[in-house]
Formats: sequence, C-alpha cells, structure tokens
Amino acid sequence: LQHLLTIEGLNAGMLRHILDTAESFVGVSERDVKKVPLLRGKAIFNLFFEPSTRTRTTFEIAAKRLSADVFNLNISASSQSKGETVLDTVDNLAAMQADMFIVRHAQSGAAHFIARHVAPHIHVINAGDGRHAHPTQGLLDMYTIRHYKKEFHNLRVAIVGDVLHSRVARSQIHALTTLGVPEVRVIAPKTLLPAQVERMGVQVYHDMKQGLKDVDVVIMLRLQNERMRGALLPSAQEYFKSYGLTQEKLALAKPDAIVMHPGPMNRGVEIDSNVADGKQSVILPQVTFGIAVRMAVMSILAGN
Ligand code: CP
Repeated sequence: LQHLLTIEGLNAGMLRHILDTAESFVGVSERDVKKVPLLRGKAIFNLFFEPSTRTRTTFEIAAKRLSADVFNLNISASSQSKGETVLDTVDNLAAMQADMFIVRHAQSGAAHFIARHVAPHIHVINAGDGRHAHPTQGLLDMYTIRHYKKEFHNLRVAIVGDVLHSRVARSQIHALTTLGVPEVRVIAPKTLLPAQVERMGVQVYHDMKQGLKDVDVVIMLRLQNERMRGALLPSAQEYFKSYGLTQEKLALAKPDAIVMHPGPMNRGVEIDSNVADGKQSVILPQVTFGIAVRMAVMSILAGN
C-alpha cells in the first residue's frame, strides 16, 4: 500500500490488519499509546487546505508518537495566497525531503491528484476530500465499534443525517459492508441522501423511529452546510425534531447501543446534549482511538 486515499477497494484482511496494528500501539488503557521509533528520521507534512481540529491534531500526535518529524503548513499564510499551485507547493515540500503528505481539501479527488504526481517513495494520506472520502475517520470508527462490540458480523448499524454531503458516511459504509456488518441502515430525508444509495448495500429509512429500532450502533452526522449549494433545507429546529437524536429516540435502539459522531457536533441540531454527553456516547473515545489508528496507517504505508 503506497497511499491511503479511500477505503473502497481495501479488503477485509487489510482493514483488520490496520485495526490490529492500531491495537498493538495501545497499552493497558486506551489512553496509553507509547512512543515508538518506527518513523524516526521521516518528515511528515500536514497539508490542511480546509479547517480541522481532530484529524490534523491526531495526525500530528500520531506522527510524534512514531518519532517522525512533523510539519504543519499554515495554508492561509503560505505562498498559496500568492497564486502558487497545489502541485508546486507539493514539489517544493518534496524538495525539503518530505516522506509523507497528509492532505485535506474541499475538492473531491485532491489527494488522488497529489498522489499521482509525487515520486514513488512519497506517501499520501487522504484526510478528507470534498464529499468523497475520509478513510482514517472510517477506520477509527471501525476501531471504536470493534472495541465496544467485539465483532462486526452480528451488528445493526444506523448512520443518521446528511449522508449526501458526507465523506465520512461513504468511508463508513464501505468499511462496514467490507467487514461483514449484515445490516447497515441510513436514516435521512430524501434530500440528504445520494441517488441510488441502496446500491451501496444499505437499507434506507426516512423515519428515525423506525430506523433506530433495535440497532447496536448509532452514528450521527452533522449537516455539512459548507457543501450545500442552494439546497432547500429545513430549519435547525425542524431538522432536530425529525432527525435530532434525543434520549427518547435513542431508547428505541438496543439498551447497550453506542452513540458515535465524527465531530464537529452541532448540539441541538443533529444531537441533544443529554445524548452527546450521556452514558451511551463514545464520541470522545473515538477521538482518542484516532491516534493509534493514524499511527497504524502511517507505519504500514512506511513499510513497517
Ligand atoms: N472528524 C473530523 O474530520 O473532524 P475535524 O474536521 O475536526 O478534523
């Protein structure tokens, strides 16, 4: 594997190998991720052309735990503002002996574009491209599900909300179906679902109460307003009434169901604070697991 650009096309063996490798970095407690020398001397560049809190920071922590040197390019203060192209920026950083680029960009396909351009010894990881893919988020979500539910083959998983504009949902659906989850549901209004979404191997629900019935995992999605051009949307209050996760709606899922959200959350829009901060929420552990999962991806790409 030279690059990680999407989960699509990775087989179950590879996905499990990444999750097992991530687990090998975690000590007795899930917060205990030791520093190892696997990427000593490697230069990793974070290229975030779109904002990020969790992904950029956990990639930086993960790179440091692997003993790599990590550089965060401040895009708004870079020569991009003087008209330099993305590929010229990448070439210049490659000339500084970059070994790996972590790329987030608003355009779908941006990481693929860079991956096709770089020299064969350089690795590219897609940290989210447009509405296309966010593979490390999908992987850390699979790690979280396996951590709490142990197996995939007996699960019912519901993904709720703006699937249409969500790169996270696409990566999750590919990972869940590849890992053998027998029932993946999407719950959303028609306007927030891609055309022919059933072809992705999911069951479609428009009613949240029906869709949540007896599920083991509930994954909530944010309304991705930044990617909606002129879409006719309900107000935040209307959306919350129909598709916001409250304790009352969550009670329809299995009693031990876990609640996930990739972040950032919009409290009172897609999720009630009582649920986000409640007993069934594993939203913050998801973030913690992102460190080990990103260590696994970087170390596997680097050939360890
Ligand atoms: N989940 C996620 O990608 O969060 P950030 O946008 O904060 O990186």
